Amino acid sequence: MIILENHPLGKLNTFGIDAVARFYVELSSTEQMKEFLQKPEFKNIPKLILGGGSNLLFTKQVLDCVVLKNNIRGINKVREDKEHVYVRSGAGENWHNFVMYCIEHNYAGIENLSLIPGNVGAGPMQNIGAYGVELKDVFQELEALNLADLKTEIFNREQCEFGYRESVFKKQARNKYIITSVTFCLNKTPTFHTSYGAINQELEAMGVSELSIAAISQAVCNIRRSKLPDPAVIGNAGSFFKNPEVDEQKFAALKTQFPAIVGYPLDNKKVKLAAGWLIEQCGWKGKILGEAGVHDKQALVLVNYGKATGKELYDLSQRVLDSVKEKFGVELEREVNIY
Ligand code: EPU
Repeated sequence: MIILENHPLGKLNTFGIDAVARFYVELSSTEQMKEFLQKPEFKNIPKLILGGGSNLLFTKQVLDCVVLKNNIRGINKVREDKEHVYVRSGAGENWHNFVMYCIEHNYAGIENLSLIPGNVGAGPMQNIGAYGVELKDVFQELEALNLADLKTEIFNREQCEFGYRESVFKKQARNKYIITSVTFCLNKTPTFHTSYGAINQELEAMGVSELSIAAISQAVCNIRRSKLPDPAVIGNAGSFFKNPEVDEQKFAALKTQFPAIVGYPLDNKKVKLAAGWLIEQCGWKGKILGEAGVHDKQALVLVNYGKATGKELYDLSQRVLDSVKEKFGVELEREVNIY
């Protein structure tokens, strides 16, 4: 294992922010992680666990910590029953490659989650979701290393406390564990989810007559490519904000004032608002301040057009938050982790 000092992180975060890590190490097994974490000289230095770097924003020039890049690889079928296949993936596998592996083997359940940037280990942290499917729908269990005693713990679905872009790893367990592997329960017979968004329309445009998980994956990739900026070309971290929930009364009041408002009723007497719509109505869509901007095709996404600093992007996000609060009285929450 090589421990580097003052290591540049520009290529390790999809926003392309040129921060520097005081210490940086890449670890490719649980044993290596334990070995590193036992070193007395690093015991009291804060740790930042890095996966694909696709859901974070560095706002400091120098990160006074050890950045631990989780490179644990490997995809294995662990067991199967009549209807399911249980597949374990190392946390450091690229998420989309994992989705492609499942599609090639005809394991159904995550085709709607195609092309989400990042690594497998980050998936459960924020319960990634898209086009009507969330990771929790196919989650079996995960293994995580407890940073306090360096013991491995298993978390089942309940213990992960999944919510909308939420899990225990963003709350009580924040910064206390390193997720090392995730096991998924996938289906031998697919249930197709095509009603969300433009999937059906896209399948039609593709001329698909017989549904398959490969076709749905392709449709999702096409939609994402048409709406969302490719981080390899323009720095971004996907949706920067969450879609906020308001109660029914608040929604009714907003609907009277803004009849075109986009909201989805939830089971808990709340309504989820499309934050992209709120931000667009405040005039932010396509706006550029210096080199930081709000994407012109999806207002939920902030972009780095070149040399924006993390601070500039953060300040832009604050201005967006403030104007949504002022116009609609709705408090947006950042989805991206800020360091
Ligand atoms: N909308 C606008 N203006 C915009 C963007 C959206 O009016 O600039 C409206 C759309 O017209 C539509 C509604 O908002 O009526 C929803 O838009 P969309 O289907 O694009 O989805 P979203 O709610 O904006 C969420 C996820 C995305 C995920 C898509 C598709 C969050 C925070 N974001 O976006 O996830 O791909 O649904 O399922 O929940 C991510 O988390 O990084 C991400 C990209």
